[in-house]
Amino acid sequence: MKKTILDLNRMVETGEKITWLTGYDYLTAKYEERAGVDMILVGDSLGMVTLGYETTYPVTMEEMLIHCKAVRRGAPNTFVIGDMPYMSYQASDEEAVRNAGRFTKEALCDAVKLEGGGEEICKRIRAIASVGMLVFGHIGLTPQFAATMGGYKAQGKSAAAAQKLLDEAIRIQEAGACALLVEGVPDVVGELITGKLSIPVLGIGAGSHTHGQLLIFADMVGLYDNFTPKFVKKYAEVGREMERAFREYCEDVRAGRFPVNDIHAYKISDAERAKIEEMMR
Ligand code: KIV
Repeated sequence: MKKTILDLNRMVETGEKITWLTGYDYLTAKYEERAGVDMILVGDSLGMVTLGYETTYPVTMEEMLIHCKAVRRGAPNTFVIGDMPYMSYQASDEEAVRNAGRFTKEALCDAVKLEGGGEEICKRIRAIASVGMLVFGHIGLTPQFAATMGGYKAQGKSAAAAQKLLDEAIRIQEAGACALLVEGVPDVVGELITGKLSIPVLGIGAGSHTHGQLLIFADMVGLYDNFTPKFVKKYAEVGREMERAFREYCEDVRAGRFPVNDIHAYKISDAERAKIEEMMR
């Protein structure tokens, strides 16, 4: 059965934690759906962990849509959120609505997410929600604001900063967001915001009190090793295992151990083989 926003709201009511991972391609999405992950975020983090950019700033709408479509094909029954890339919603409400619409219409996403909790961003949330699309807010450590934050730094580390985040969270809820992601804040700030809102609050590096958890899949399976944030738990070392397999393959080919014709080659009748061997002579 396809997951909807009603399932997420029900999980919050019953206290069942929501599980959320990023995903960027068909295969990963397929395994995530098979594993029972509730939601997949096609994050603009794809720029860093899949496309090799240093930040998320260069990611384009076209790149996001290609990856969202692949994820949707891999996970037809999972709640998929498309992350609006930098400068796809900042300039005007109209641009925000048009680009959000592309995630829904072309990539069949269930919702979009955008970063920030200021007045202008809340106008965009209101505009998108008013035409019937589901919008996730995102506050705290927001990578699209890395320049103004002076890098990827934890947020809300004083009571005053926590109050500012809470004000943003309430403003986002009032603007019509269906859920909120809080990133990179002390656990007590995650707890404060979760306790004050009536929409689902998800956390990534925001402690254990939020209604659900998000991790970047490439971090938690040990694929992305450029840096690992404090809040990541590694569940596998897939990168190391891939490197081992690639190395062993190279060694086998170079040593003539692969392929083994009896195992890996297509069969042919003895009569036809004999004719071809004759041709070789
Ligand atoms: O792009 C992304 O994956 C995100 C997470 C870092 C929250 O927005």
